[in-house]
Order: sequence, then structure tokens, then C-alpha cells
Amino acid sequence: MIFELNEEQLQIKYSIREFAESEIRPHVSQWDESQHFPVELLPKLAELGLMGIIFPEKYGGAGMGYVEYATIIEELGRVDGSIGLSVAAHNSLCSNHIFMFGNEKQKQKYLVPLVRGEHFGAWGLTEPQAGSDASGTKTTAIRSNGGWIVNGSKNFITHAISCHTLVAVAVTDKEKGNKGISAFIFDKTMKGFRAEKKENKLGMRASETASVVFEDCYVPEENLLGNEGEGFLQAMQILDGGRISIAALAVGIAQGAYEAALKYAKERVQFGRPIAEFQAIQFKLADMATQIEAARLLTLQAAAMKDAGKKVTKQSSMAKLFASEIAVKVAEEAIQIHGGYGYTKDYPVEKYWRDAKLCTIGEGTSEIQRLVIARQILKA
Ligand code: CAA
Repeated sequence: MIFELNEEQLQIKYSIREFAESEIRPHVSQWDESQHFPVELLPKLAELGLMGIIFPEKYGGAGMGYVEYATIIEELGRVDGSIGLSVAAHNSLCSNHIFMFGNEKQKQKYLVPLVRGEHFGAWGLTEPQAGSDASGTKTTAIRSNGGWIVNGSKNFITHAISCHTLVAVAVTDKEKGNKGISAFIFDKTMKGFRAEKKENKLGMRASETASVVFEDCYVPEENLLGNEGEGFLQAMQILDGGRISIAALAVGIAQGAYEAALKYAKERVQFGRPIAEFQAIQFKLADMATQIEAARLLTLQAAAMKDAGKKVTKQSSMAKLFASEIAVKVAEEAIQIHGGYGYTKDYPVEKYWRDAKLCTIGEGTSEIQRLVIARQILKA
């Protein structure tokens, strides 16, 4: 089996590469330094269809599959992890939750503006006391006046400040454990819903991460996603797809770091010759290239399986686990190849390392991926 992109997919790959090189690359350091979340990029992302990559044309989407989606996220990550992360969180978390579990009315009202890039989306699962233990959600939703009153908070939420639409889960029946958690659509105009505390992060600094607070926030019944009590199960299925995009993001970051190291190794002269001529450096480059190729194949396999409508719980966790861990290693080796210069902000590799680290944590830590994989293996 030859696993390679077809002509059309290659065209998509190179058009995104061109966009990332011309519209993102020149600003990467400054956005990183100042933690600037470039909302001004939104119209350009929308024009390219990047705000609705995986959604049907009838909702204004680009109607692409996960193979194309992974390829796009990889190309964005190759230049700037933060932009890849934003596009991924918008597509596969918030928008996809409404697409997969929303009714037609909810899709028309909330999904269409998200897909058109008129609105930014955010997704709230994590809470201060419920990170890896996602079913330990403390936020509550209590029935009142034909709707729900929501109290609690979410943290580490991508686009918490700039979003117009947030999908978040809350406990609707404490007695039922994970079957007593429901998902709701929140609209930034709702009273009692606000963002707080923008995080000052190690990496992914141009991607906005903040907390969300609900204080007696009234959500109408029509904003319940699917049936009451299905929110946790929905979130798990959303993460099955989301983790493919984080794997792709990690592949892109690793690719960017590798390319920088390869270029440097050919240019940097020590002991009278380019350091790429030394076997110590060649072996590093060989390992980096091999690890990236393996991670890309695992990611594309998970994406192709998702496109074929197969269950991808195990494959998406394997892809995310492997790709994120090799991205950290590849970026670290890229710093090593650069020596002292790699430790400075004059070269891009220290940023790739900082960005890569997030991929081993966001959308489930490496430890949670191992747990998911082990449970899938043992129940097979
Ligand atoms: N597909 C379908 N069903 C699934 C499923 C999946 N992927 N995963 C779990 N389920 C089902 C199980 O079969 C089980 O069903 P039954 O009760 O009927 O047997 C039920 O859901 C509960 O599953 P578990 O017993 O496995 O639940 P658990 O409490 O042990 O938790 C977990 C499992 C894998 C650890 C889960 O809590 C998890 O994924 N944690 C990590 C959460 C995470 O990734 N957070 C990051 C979110 S990103 C964010 O919020 C910020 C942002 O902006 C990006």
C-alpha cells in the first residue's frame, strides 16, 4: 500500500504552505513575544475556507475530509503552532460538536457563522478541578424557567476571550455520574458568561487561552446539545477527532524544527566544514526525519479511518501520543544542532520546542492517551 497524498491534496498542502509563508511567517516572533492573538487573520483564514474545513458546503464549509484537514493543520503548524492550534480548536472542537450533535436549527444559528468565519468558536471541558478526569466536572446546570441556570468555570479554554460561541459541558444530574453531564451552546451575549485570566504561557503564545466563568447564566432549553445526560459521551467522541488535529499540529511543528536544523547544519561551518558533514549531526537528522515520517503516517492513517467512518479512538490517541512526543524530541535535537544559537530567540528552534510541548498536554496528556490506548487494546 502506497500511502501518499493525491494531486488535489498536494495542491491544498502547497497553497496553505504559501499562505503560511507569506501571511504568517513574517509575524511569528512578534506575535509570540507579545502574546498577540491575531484576530486580524480571521478574514483571510475564512477566505481560504479554514474556518469550516470539515463541514459540508450546505453549511458554508469547504467539505473536506480529515486527510485534507490534517494536511492543512500540519502546514500551519510548520510555520506557527499557535495558528494551527486556533484553526484546530475552532474546527474540530466547538464547530464539530454542533455539527455532530446539534439539531438543524442550532446548526443554522450557530454553525453557519462559525464555518463562514464570522464567529470564533471555543470549547469548554476542562475545569480547575477536572482536567484529565473530565467526568469530574463541577459546573452545574439547574432547570429553571424553561431553560437552565449555569454556575461554575472552565479553564485553559482556547479563544475564551475572542469567541462568540462556546460549547461547554455541565452537570445536570449529580446522581448519574458521567451520564448526568450535558452539553450546551453558549452565546457571548448571554448574561452571566464572561472570560477571565488570560494565561501567560510557555509556548503557543499567539493562541489565546483563558478561563470562562458562568454566574447564574441562563441558557434556553433550545441550546441543549443532543439529549440531557449525553454531554460526556459527546465530548469523548469530539476528542477522538480533535486528537487527530493535535497529532497533525505536532507533525507540522516537528517538520518546521527539522527544516530549520537541516538548513543550519548545511550552513554552519566548524572544524573547517559544514557540520552536516559530521556523522554525529547526520545521525540526528536521520532520526528526526524518520520519526516525523512515522508520525505523519500514523496521523494520516487515523485521518483516513475517520474519513471512512471507522471508530478512531485508539488510532487518534496513538497518533497524538507518538506525534506529540517525537515533536518535543525533534525540536530538542534541532536546538542541539544549533548549539548556543538554538538557545536564543535569534533562531526559530526554541519556539518550536515550546510549542511542541503543548501537544503532549492539550486534548489529553500523553498519560491519558496511553490510558485510552490500553483500554482499547484490553477490551478488544
Ligand atoms: N467514544 C465513545 N464512547 C466513549 C469514548 C469514546 N472515545 N470514551 C469513553 N466512552 C464511554 C465509555 O465506553 C464509557 O461508557 P459506559 O459508561 O457506558 O461503559 C463512558 O464513556 C465513560 O468512559 P470511561 O469509563 O473511560 O470514563 P473515565 O471517567 O474513566 O474517563 C478518560 C476517560 C479517557 C480519562 C477521559 O476523562 C479523558 O479523555 N480525559 C482527558 C480529557 C481531555 O482530553 N481534556 C482536554 C480537553 S481540551 C479543552 O478543554 C481546552 C481547549 O480549548 C482545547
